[in-house]
Amino acid sequence: MVEASKPRLLTGDRPTGALHLGHLVGSLDNRVALQHDHECFIIVADLHTLTTRPRKHEFGEVPGFVREMVLDQLAVGIDPSKVTFYLQSAVPAVYDLAVLLQMLVPKARLEQVKSLRSMARAAAMSDDAMTMGLLAYPVLQAADILMARATIVPVGLDNEEHIAIARECASVFNELYGDLFPLPDAMISRSPALPGVATGPAGSGAKMSKSLGNAVYLGDPPERVREKLATLTYDAGDRRLGDEAALLMFARAFVGDAEAADLRRELDAGSTSLAAAHALIDEAVNARLAPIRERRAVLAGDVGLVEETLVDGTIRAREVANHTLARARDAMGLESLWSGLVAATEARAKARRRPY
Ligand code: TRP
Repeated sequence: MVEASKPRLLTGDRPTGALHLGHLVGSLDNRVALQHDHECFIIVADLHTLTTRPRKHEFGEVPGFVREMVLDQLAVGIDPSKVTFYLQSAVPAVYDLAVLLQMLVPKARLEQVKSLRSMARAAAMSDDAMTMGLLAYPVLQAADILMARATIVPVGLDNEEHIAIARECASVFNELYGDLFPLPDAMISRSPALPGVATGPAGSGAKMSKSLGNAVYLGDPPERVREKLATLTYDAGDRRLGDEAALLMFARAFVGDAEAADLRRELDAGSTSLAAAHALIDEAVNARLAPIRERRAVLAGDVGLVEETLVDGTIRAREVANHTLARARDAMGLESLWSGLVAATEARAKARRRPY
């Protein structure tokens, strides 16, 4: 019996560090749930890290980050027998497709993309120093998505416009050369960004992020988690992410909506102490992290496992990408241009009665 094919989904991250609680509630939980009913590709977008970190010493950190990131995803329960994990830079067809798609996107369109400006700012890159690579970031991302002919792309809000550009690439391509690419849809995470802990200079009101130094990592030991969570405060300065204090956002994400509402009432009434609230959150977070931590240690001890997972997936991604690229080249006439040259060369060799 032929199994009805599942919708194709593609998502992933730049390898900029180990994954944290913000990733867990913002995207990893979702990936675990979606893997059953979708054919999933998870990209490790190392080419995209080059857009803001092209220096050799910066790229030197990437192999370690790649390993941590894949290990984290396996530890939370993403099953490599269901999901194709792959290394972007090891799929050459993606570079080719990106060049072809660049012909279809007006430069002015890319100059409007706000996320690129904030990435440039975060990398201390002035407008004048903005590279072609960073400007074309969404086009490369479109190549990732379209090469897999994915229709569902789970991303954060900051990537919404990139997916709109991928759609535009697909529809312009289809219009010019015939239907090849299904139009991808962004699937924006329902959970709001998790605030960071107050260990970094940004404090706990900012979004949890590795670069702000305010993250609780999936691999952090319990004592470290407790110390970090104890910095969460319940004051107005904490409410930069919305109208709720960081402490309550943690309670909602890890204890529950109703419990968070109770906690707020009790804190406001003074019937619960801040220390008790920290203990409640610490217990809930550690209950989530304990099995992840345990699996992470077992998987990390299986030498070469993470690497093999990535190699297997990349080989599969190459097949898929080569197939799509061949169809795109065909549709554009590039393939027949080359094969025409080859055919004429072969005919000449034959007439000459000497092989080419
Ligand atoms: N842009 C994503 C990020 O913010 C990473 C990424 C690259 C991606 N290619 C993708 C996400 C394709 C989804 C689909 O890190």
